Amino acid sequence: MNIIVTGGAGFIGGNFCHYMTNKYPEDNILCIDKLTYAGNMETLEPIMDKPNFRFFKADIADRNAIYKIFEEEKPDIVVNFAAESHVDRSISDPEIFLRTNIIGTSVMLDACRKYGIKRYHQVSTDEVYGDLPLDRTDLFFTEETPIHTSSPYSASKASADLLVQAYARTYKMPCTISRCSNNYGPYHFPEKLIPLIIANALNDKEIPVYGKGENVRDWLYVEDHCIAIDKIIRDGKEGEVYNIGGHNEKTNLEVVKTVLSLLDKSEDLIHYVTDRPGHDMRYAIDPTKIHNDLGWLPATPFKEGIRKTIDWYLNHREWWENIISGEYQNYYDKMYGNRG
Ligand code: NAD
Ligand code: TYD
Repeated sequence: MNIIVTGGAGFIGGNFCHYMTNKYPEDNILCIDKLTYAGNMETLEPIMDKPNFRFFKADIADRNAIYKIFEEEKPDIVVNFAAESHVDRSISDPEIFLRTNIIGTSVMLDACRKYGIKRYHQVSTDEVYGDLPLDRTDLFFTEETPIHTSSPYSASKASADLLVQAYARTYKMPCTISRCSNNYGPYHFPEKLIPLIIANALNDKEIPVYGKGENVRDWLYVEDHCIAIDKIIRDGKEGEVYNIGGHNEKTNLEVVKTVLSLLDKSEDLIHYVTDRPGHDMRYAIDPTKIHNDLGWLPATPFKEGIRKTIDWYLNHREWWENIISGEYQNYYDKMYGNRG
């Protein structure tokens, strides 16, 4: 089978390319990535020479480039990870989120429609459901929870989901959507909370915690997300949405303290800064459907996953030091310089 993976030079797409090339030597994994600031060829370096892996530098919103790849490669399956993915960036500059996340998705869907496909899978996020109150720990996101977005990022991802559902119904396209909670693990770009804590702590730099640090996220080890998507593209039912998450809710402060303690660093590094505007309070996934229908459950408990992640960052300093010594430094100064 020929499987197109967009956004494969990023965090989750990269882990998915590693997972798929190793697990299915008989399938061809065709990675399409624009290589934005978040795309990194060093993430793909370990699999670049594999005979079942190929890389195409292209923008998913570039219709001609995408159609050309489809015409030549005749993919059976498309998994669309490519996106602008950082909430804070979407607050300072929403437009690129609309172009990549909405227009890009529509171009991918049109290509699938024009050239024919066995399955189109949209990698979405639990953020399309908005947030849950901190004092209602009995509430979880199910696939029936109404879409109710907070940030330009989540609004753009929700728009993409609606387009996928429209193409599935109108053109009877074989589509699935997954909505996953926060991922962590190797190759995570250091603008996001967990790698930012690790990188700053290792450099004895302050850890910026938004507001009081009481917001809750439901953390999932990235490989568990990859396994879930693999199950959905093979056994998931066309037209369905699957929530992915593992009942692993933690406040941001708990996560920061856990990482600091595993690195043997002082909690004095914690620095409370101005809150993110519109900051979602709590995300929590109910994974009953994917468990019952596809037999998926997360395999890596947080205690083990966070240790593995920290070890990876300790053993791959060059990967993240190259990032934080480049253009990223300008972003960091702009984002945190005047935050208090
Ligand atoms: P990321 O920012 O690390 O990677 C995104 C990748 O997409 C990069 O390699 C980038 O170069 C590429 N890209 C961006 N614009 C592109 C374009 N126009 N054309 C082609 N490639 C482009 O993101 P991530 O954290 O790996 O997230 C991947 C997907 O998973 C996203 O769709 C995101 O919404 C979703 N998701 C992420 C999380 C999470 O916790 N990170 C949770 C749930 C869902
Ligand atoms: P993030 O990793 O950006 O993911 P998301 O916003 O998609 O959940 O942030 C995770 C949580 O950590 C979120 O509540 C915001 C918070 N946060 C901080 O407190 N400080 C930081 O420097 C960052 C990047 C995030």
